[in-house]
Amino acid sequence: MPTETAQPKTRVAVLISGSGTNMASLIAAGQVADAPYEVAVVVSNVASVAGLDRARAAGVEALTVEHGSYGKDREAHERAIDALLIQHKVEVVALAGYMRLLTPWLVQKWAGRMINIHPSLLPLYPGLNTHARALESGDAEAGCTVHVVTEGVDEGPVLGQARVPILPGDTPDALAERVKAAEHRLYPQTLAAFAKRRPRSGP
Ligand code: GAR
Repeated sequence: MPTETAQPKTRVAVLISGSGTNMASLIAAGQVADAPYEVAVVVSNVASVAGLDRARAAGVEALTVEHGSYGKDREAHERAIDALLIQHKVEVVALAGYMRLLTPWLVQKWAGRMINIHPSLLPLYPGLNTHARALESGDAEAGCTVHVVTEGVDEGPVLGQARVPILPGDTPDALAERVKAAEHRLYPQTLAAFAKRRPRSGP
């Protein structure tokens, strides 16, 4: 007979804009029986991306809130996403290839409860084209970072990093593939640790 009542899993939303391979690794790790979190919902800002199909194939509800429908009103778009998060009783938001800058409104609303994965060893190479920039700089290694989301782009406190070597003859695509494999290991582990120590308060 178990002597302790199991803690309910932390409810996570994953925000995506594309292929969703990191999202898939988060879903799979959350579906293990004793995982401290579960992916409750996936939201994309772009319709018909592969990540939505991947999420549904894994049995997770996957929704689209197209940013184009909101014109220049970025906050209105985020309010629509936020309403879905509340509706799904989400406690932690994980950005996984969500390729839109967030407004201070959403960042403040989820302060301390929103994390992101970025394909570089931050503080090196915030923003885009990280792999090409690492190659151009002649770096010996590259990697990825999971960090808490704050208002500065790719600037929040680092929760975890993984390193990979840069090999002779590497192209940005070859390096991206090696870094992606590291991302798929790092993100579930880091999210699990974050979910375990996070205060269990709702929005
Ligand atoms: C990942 O490499 C992720 O680190 C990156 O987008 C890719 C998404 O791939 N995120 C950023 O660049 C955010 N600044 P995925 O959709 O296959 O997970």
